[in-house]
Amino acid sequence: MAESTEVVRLAAVADVHLGRDSKGLFARELDGIEEKADILLIAGDVTRVGEAEEAAVFAAEVAGLPIPTVAVLGNHDYHSDQQELVTKHLEEAGVVVLEQDSIVVEVRERAIGIAGAKGFGGGFRNACGSDFGEPEMKAFVRHSEAIARAFEEQLRSLQGTDARVALLHYSPIAETLAGEKPEIFAFLGSYFLEEAIDAAGADIAFHGHAHAGAESGRTMGGVLVHNVAHAVIRSAYKVFELPLRR
Ligand SMILES: [Fe+2]
Ligand SMILES: [Fe+2]
Repeated sequence: MAESTEVVRLAAVADVHLGRDSKGLFARELDGIEEKADILLIAGDVTRVGEAEEAAVFAAEVAGLPIPTVAVLGNHDYHSDQQELVTKHLEEAGVVVLEQDSIVVEVRERAIGIAGAKGFGGGFRNACGSDFGEPEMKAFVRHSEAIARAFEEQLRSLQGTDARVALLHYSPIAETLAGEKPEIFAFLGSYFLEEAIDAAGADIAFHGHAHAGAESGRTMGGVLVHNVAHAVIRSAYKVFELPLRR
């Protein structure tokens, strides 16, 4: 008998915020992950303040994992202006780091497309910044929009794969921010990211950043969005079974 609906098992987490004193903690929780998941997705904020030493701690935790690990960085990973070193440490540990980029991972001869970007803030419909006024405000909004447009192109490039995954740090929707103060929603995500997902298409989206947010929501176009911040999922990772398209 043919196997029941084929799925890819995606383990996802964000905001683990490892510090120099975190050695061994995450690795212990990842033990045996290959029995539960096919791919590990990290939705940013692997460090506390973006120091290369913290990234080295994180890298050691995930080095040698028996399943592919794909990550985006978060705002904390940029804080010390060492994001390139943070990326380098992760890549040396075998992690694929996406920033307005994509990758196709093969799982049981099926193609799983993942597009990734940190994203940025700006807010949501009827409560967002606009490309108007001072140059600083324009720069803020244009930066957010440019990231989203590049992300959209990457998602679009994955058409034809068996599953398309959107991996972000900032949220594409307000729904998964419920629990955070509404006053800071504009710093937690942007509807430009939602527009990108709905325009290009995706089967599932993950983000972090909103430690006090809600677990799941949907874009206007109906794409399921999961906030996998460690403080939200309350575990080292959560596994999502995504049905494959063909
Ligand atoms: Fe965080
Ligand atoms: Fe964050």
